[in-house]
Amino acid sequence: MAQLIDGKAVSAAVKAEVAEEAAKLKDEKGLKVGLAVVIVGNDPASRVYVNNKKKACEAVGFQSFEYALDEATTQEQLLDLVNVLNRDDRVNGILVQLPLPKHIDEKAIINAISPEKDVDAFHPINVGKIMIGEYSFLPCTPAGVMRLIESTGTDITGKQCVVIGRSNIVGKPQAMLLLQKNGTVTICHSKTKNLKEICLGADILVVAVGRANFVTGDMIKEGAVVIDVGMNRLDNGKLCGDVEFESAEKKASYITPVPGGVGPMTIAMLMKNTLTAAKQQAGIE
Ligand code: GUN
Repeated sequence: MAQLIDGKAVSAAVKAEVAEEAAKLKDEKGLKVGLAVVIVGNDPASRVYVNNKKKACEAVGFQSFEYALDEATTQEQLLDLVNVLNRDDRVNGILVQLPLPKHIDEKAIINAISPEKDVDAFHPINVGKIMIGEYSFLPCTPAGVMRLIESTGTDITGKQCVVIGRSNIVGKPQAMLLLQKNGTVTICHSKTKNLKEICLGADILVVAVGRANFVTGDMIKEGAVVIDVGMNRLDNGKLCGDVEFESAEKKASYITPVPGGVGPMTIAMLMKNTLTAAKQQAGIE
């Protein structure tokens, strides 16, 4: 039976580290770390995420600046706001919550965020830096996954790592991070043939497909480390991951629960990126 990877505990440890450093920055350098969070429209899930980000800022001692804009906000208006935030010295990190309303080009907005303040690491400059291993920020979810794997004491070197999902936000950067830790990495997606066979070879399996119970126990190698990035709402209102937990925990050595696994890590890593941004902007790191 697998051991649970406690995302709440690991994320609390990351936030405690960040809070300690933020307090030091304030005491020793008079610096107050600031994160601007921009939300456009009324998507309820986005609202929850943004509230959680605000709470996390308070918990680690950051200033948070929230901009809740009307659904009808134009792309021009949003670009104007991003440009104001790029120049605002109180703001070390800028996060524009996605998805944006359909009339706004997400790429244009991401490209307008100053790469130094792009704490999501979505800007092409930051994406490119990840490819060559010279990054300041790592995208929050894949970075959180790495921290969870690390918490199990697993050495990634030489391991067969399988990532299911090829999104720009999770799958692709996740594969790069595992590669940088010397994993042998396979990326699977909706067109992959013999998915089960590939999964059965995985020592480390990261699942980010967005389909409830997509990976079942019979696809998991005995003793594998299984990380479930999925967060699906079932018809009965319950949250469930991309991995069928009951059958998977019988095969895995370590497994993340949903909720309480990867989810809490994403915000913790956002706090860490914002701290890093503040230090870099102050010439400290
Ligand atoms: N929407 C869902 N996840 C994210 C995220 O990590 N960053 C942003 N900006 N929007 C999101």
